[in-house]
Amino acid sequence: MDKFVITGGNPLKGEIRIGGAKNAAVAIIPAVILAGDVCRLENLPNISDVSVLAKILQELGATVTRISKSTLEIDPRPINTYIARHELVKNMRASYYLYGALLGRFNKARVPMPGGCFFGIRPIDLHLKGFEALGATTKIVENGMVSLDAEKLVGNHIYLDIVSVGATINIMLAAVRAEGVTVIENAAREPHIVDLANFLNSMGADIMGAGTGVIKIRGVKDLHGTTYSIIPDQIEAGTYMAAAAATGGDVMITNVTPKHLESITARLRQMGVTIEEFDDRLRVTRTEPLKACNIKTMPHPGFPTDMQPQAAALLAVAKGISIVTEGVWDNRFQYCDELRKMGASVSVDGKIAVFQGVDKLMGAPVRATDLRAGAAMIIAALMADGVTEIEQIFHIERGYEDIVEKLRGAGAQIRRVSDEPTRGANLMSS
Ligand code: UD1
Repeated sequence: MDKFVITGGNPLKGEIRIGGAKNAAVAIIPAVILAGDVCRLENLPNISDVSVLAKILQELGATVTRISKSTLEIDPRPINTYIARHELVKNMRASYYLYGALLGRFNKARVPMPGGCFFGIRPIDLHLKGFEALGATTKIVENGMVSLDAEKLVGNHIYLDIVSVGATINIMLAAVRAEGVTVIENAAREPHIVDLANFLNSMGADIMGAGTGVIKIRGVKDLHGTTYSIIPDQIEAGTYMAAAAATGGDVMITNVTPKHLESITARLRQMGVTIEEFDDRLRVTRTEPLKACNIKTMPHPGFPTDMQPQAAALLAVAKGISIVTEGVWDNRFQYCDELRKMGASVSVDGKIAVFQGVDKLMGAPVRATDLRAGAAMIIAALMADGVTEIEQIFHIERGYEDIVEKLRGAGAQIRRVSDEPTRGANLMSS
């Protein structure tokens, strides 16, 4: 099995450049299905989630041309099916954006239930309710295939009982070419929601209010092609901020939007980390011991659940007791078992984890139990005494581009040990 082998103890120094936002990219690539012409997407992260989605669009008939490592040109005009059957779709959580995009283009969609990281039940009831409010009938048919059909889509008022990123995005995708006006209330406000709205508006859509709790979408007949640059990845940036802090480093993190990082910056400062903000970069340094602090994850602009494991890796060695409350997912503390193998003192009760900071973590064989849990293992390994081997790294490579190169560039001792015969199989099971 492929793994990362990390020798801890080196403070990170220098510069780390952040790539495009994974969660924006995985919404914007399917959104291209709605366009009437070629779209050029720039600043895409070089991760397997992006290449898998590009492949899925190709399977549907789109012409996908790789212009550079971070730029794709996609011509959606040749897509002539609303049925996404491929195995690849089942293995990826964000493939659920194919529902909204195919429904928005064809008034029909057949797409398998999504896969992806497992940290509790991940229902799609709000997505389906949203489609129904726009006039679609929704059914789960054989083999977990989701079937959506509408005579035509008509705008409506939709209130989301729970703030859901996925449901907000899917309703936007289905509503953008619907007849009339759709209003989403209690909408998610994450930066990638705003990025998707900006992308759709650059194709001629009429979306207002993205980034607030009320999004108004006036349906348009057609969307044209566009050239669009994806925003920097908030969570990738936060992860390297945490890594720099963990190792007592001094790192300039470039190509970021500091505003998107405010909740992360605030918590790290509380832990005793120094963060200087510039226009599109942040300098992260730490010279004092880490201090305990409490964290509760919440929808944006709260502390992001996708940064919870990485922040907790720091709390494992922060002086005192820290309480981490997971406010979004039911089961996002699986990584705590792995941290314990490295010497962390943590007890978990449901959605609450209590850390009693220890002086040192020790290298150990551990697993990446999901994408962000894997990032937490890397952070823990970078500050641990000795060598840590991290297995199941396909989770990490789904969402972090060039992570070995970026960390090595900042002085980390990390290498990827490959076991070619099982690599393909691992990727397919993520
Ligand atoms: C997205 C992110 C994921 C992040 C999460 C929360 C992508 C591809 N993934 O996931 O990394 O952790 O936002 O910031 O962008 N829920 C329902 N019914 C639904 C949908 C959601 O009850 O139909 C619940 C979920 O169980 C969860 C909460 O709503 O408790 C938030 O989920 P949601 O925001 O939808 O997460 P995702 O879009 O799946």
